Amino acid sequence: MQGKLIDGKAIAERVKKEVECDIEALASRGIKPGLAAVLIGDDPASHIYVNGKAKACSQMGIVSEVIKRPAETTAEELHRLIGELNERKDMHGILIQSPLPKHLDELEAVLNVNPLKDVDGFHPVNVGYMLLGSPIFLPCTPYGIVRLLDETDIDPKGKKVVILGRGNIVGKPLAAILMQKWDGCNATVTVCHTGTVDIAAETSRADIVVAAMGKPKFLTADMIKEGAVVIDVGVNRVPDAGAPKGYTICGDVDFEACRQKASWITPVPGGVGPMTIAMLLHNTVRAAMLQSD
Ligand code: GUN
Repeated sequence: MQGKLIDGKAIAERVKKEVECDIEALASRGIKPGLAAVLIGDDPASHIYVNGKAKACSQMGIVSEVIKRPAETTAEELHRLIGELNERKDMHGILIQSPLPKHLDELEAVLNVNPLKDVDGFHPVNVGYMLLGSPIFLPCTPYGIVRLLDETDIDPKGKKVVILGRGNIVGKPLAAILMQKWDGCNATVTVCHTGTVDIAAETSRADIVVAAMGKPKFLTADMIKEGAVVIDVGVNRVPDAGAPKGYTICGDVDFEACRQKASWITPVPGGVGPMTIAMLLHNTVRAAMLQSD
């Protein structure tokens, strides 16, 4: 079997069309959504991600401001900046790009963000609402994955989903979402991590495998069952002397091999990545709506 591609780019365009309608509705009330992205330090990948997010905003008519600060920024300076953004009426969403430099505490930083502006859904208040099944904002990557499945007519209800990785940005919130008694969720979820004794034993029984642990080509064909759905969240830079930039990008899945066994599979790039951005736009417009009501 040659698995079919889940085209994240095309599905993201569909989401953006919906977001455009909401932006027009807001414009008729004189409201233009705004997103402030805070980028501390000089992690090259973070710069690429944040610039991509800002570009997507400007293409949609969302005002975006990328606030760059040096790696030496102190906790006090960051907290003052977040406080200022909380007060700004023109910035409905605040995003603090992760990872922060080591001396800055991510939880402490996000605790300073007004939960109604927390378009990443990372504030403990938003994490709590999500877990309780009454979300204000769902984190963008997990939200995008659920939407990818829905748009592909893959219903996780009653299915065994195995998530590789327990990070706060993808693994944990995705597990919390997919276990909810909602349409498009209602799955039996297993989360594998460094403490899991036999990961292949789990993945080989899964109907849907989501790889989000940040290890290049970790999920191999022998680890999945015939007809599985494979979602690859990984974006890994692998040194490649022959490549123009000296590296190539690959996911957490051995794509070519897994495709031969999967029913559906996401590519990297062009799978989950565009959906993360689309859901961020969705959340930013939602923030503008919530703040204007
Ligand atoms: N770093 C990697 N993914 C994300 C994300 O979705 N939001 C933020 N703020 N930082 C990230």
